[in-house]
Amino acid sequence: METITDNNPADIDHLWWQTCVIYQIYPRSFQDANGDGIGDLKGIVQRLDYLQWLGVDCVWLSPIYPSPMADFGYDISDYQGVHPLFGTMEDFDELLEQVHRRGMKLILDLVPNHTSDQHPWFLESRSSRDSPKRDWYIWQEPGENGALPNNWLSVFGGHAWELDPATRQYYYHAFLKQQPDLNWRNPEVHEAMTDVMHFWLRKGVDGFRVDVMWHIIKDAQLRNNPVVANSPFDENDLIYEYHDPAYSTDQPEVHEIVRMMRRTTNQYDDRVLIGEIYLPIHKLITYYGADKSEAHLPFNFQLLALPWDSEQIARAVEEYEGALPMDGWPNWVLGNHDRPRIASRVGRSQARVAAMLLLTLRGTPTLYYGDEIGMRDVPIPQDELVDPQGLYMPDRNVSRDPARTPMQWNTDEFAGFSGSKPWLRLPRSFRRVNVELQKEDPDSMLSFYHSLITLRKRQPAFQTGKYTPVYSDKQLLAFIRENDTDRFLVVLNLSHRPCYLLPKNETFDGEIIISTEAERIGLRTENNLLLSGDEGLIVKLER
Ligand code: NOJ
Repeated sequence: METITDNNPADIDHLWWQTCVIYQIYPRSFQDANGDGIGDLKGIVQRLDYLQWLGVDCVWLSPIYPSPMADFGYDISDYQGVHPLFGTMEDFDELLEQVHRRGMKLILDLVPNHTSDQHPWFLESRSSRDSPKRDWYIWQEPGENGALPNNWLSVFGGHAWELDPATRQYYYHAFLKQQPDLNWRNPEVHEAMTDVMHFWLRKGVDGFRVDVMWHIIKDAQLRNNPVVANSPFDENDLIYEYHDPAYSTDQPEVHEIVRMMRRTTNQYDDRVLIGEIYLPIHKLITYYGADKSEAHLPFNFQLLALPWDSEQIARAVEEYEGALPMDGWPNWVLGNHDRPRIASRVGRSQARVAAMLLLTLRGTPTLYYGDEIGMRDVPIPQDELVDPQGLYMPDRNVSRDPARTPMQWNTDEFAGFSGSKPWLRLPRSFRRVNVELQKEDPDSMLSFYHSLITLRKRQPAFQTGKYTPVYSDKQLLAFIRENDTDRFLVVLNLSHRPCYLLPKNETFDGEIIISTEAERIGLRTENNLLLSGDEGLIVKLER
């Protein structure tokens, strides 16, 4: 079955994961087919025609596996099943078939760093110090007077060690105590997770998005993490960001694990391995691996993290382009289920500029369900919050619920998402902001996304062409995408005020083919391009 197709992109056509647009579905919130207020697999099938119309061609599903849902599916109790809330394995097979029938791809979330505390592996591990699976997790003796093994903190706040009263040892959990970390220094854990990957790859899934890839293995000596310089937090706050996770994440040994995952993936034709990695660029790019032996796409989250500032973004794009290893394929992510939505972060007008940036940069774009209609974070009353991150740090305003609300399909009582009250509330504005209305409106966010995606699909210059920065200043950034036949100028005003593109000794004659100001479409450029506030445009240049 060994058919490695991605070692020589220079002499073959680009691969699907390089030219596709990835669309992340948070399954609880996309479409509910059985009327229980929670999205499911049958619901997703119902909406595949919409996704096909939109032009996205790869769907990534957040976890659909059996789970006690302490972290909404990222606490898995069976890696080879489907949670009854989402449907059955037959429903999954049907979804996969329907996705493939439409020429699209399906990627699953793989969560190898931790399991649920209800996973049989952990139940067995915790049952006794002598359990054959004891070493599958990270167990440590208490120090003197019951002291914690080290100073590591949980991403969700508090200590990362939980004492098991029955066996009187601590286990490590980077996230919730219901999410014990696996011990990847144990080869049996490798084997078990490789079996999981084979199970889904054999079924025909097109790849994995690997959860917290940079967390998977920890320092062998479990040394204390250093304190961040000038931290705004106090030691007693027990806030994760108080430390630099130097010993609990991004360890040199992680790369052998990612190589193992890549080797497994490579045993199947044409699959993709994506890594969720929040690290600075120079570290992120190491996850491509020597000779591209690791992740195909280490997720690039810069657009989620950087201030919305044209100079900083221009610099970040250049830094990234410059840092990529030979033939390392770039990618860009604009939203996900862990971060505020783009329209809430930068406002609705700038969200269009952001869409244009995402869909014209070089590299595979990933968009988050609902961003294509400009969904905003929904205010959720305290007593309706369910995300553990929000619940455990109530004074930090970090709940992820607002960005996980149901997809707004139409003006029906529950926005066409469900026949009954959804698990998270809808915003009052859903009667204005929904797919059905926006599809009919040529000026809508959805129509804008549609035209950008269509352009990307039709013009290879955007999918695989060169990227050349042209200009950036305090308001705008501009770049060219081109191949042998076509040349396009992208100009984005990241400010609310008008500005000129002032290129040195360059003229940009051509036709405006997409603009946030529909009135300009079809017009020719003048030499000095003048932009309105919040305007983004694409010019087809005369070569
Ligand atoms: C990253 C996931 O994206 C997030 O939703 C989850 O809470 C953590 N990993 C823990 O699994």
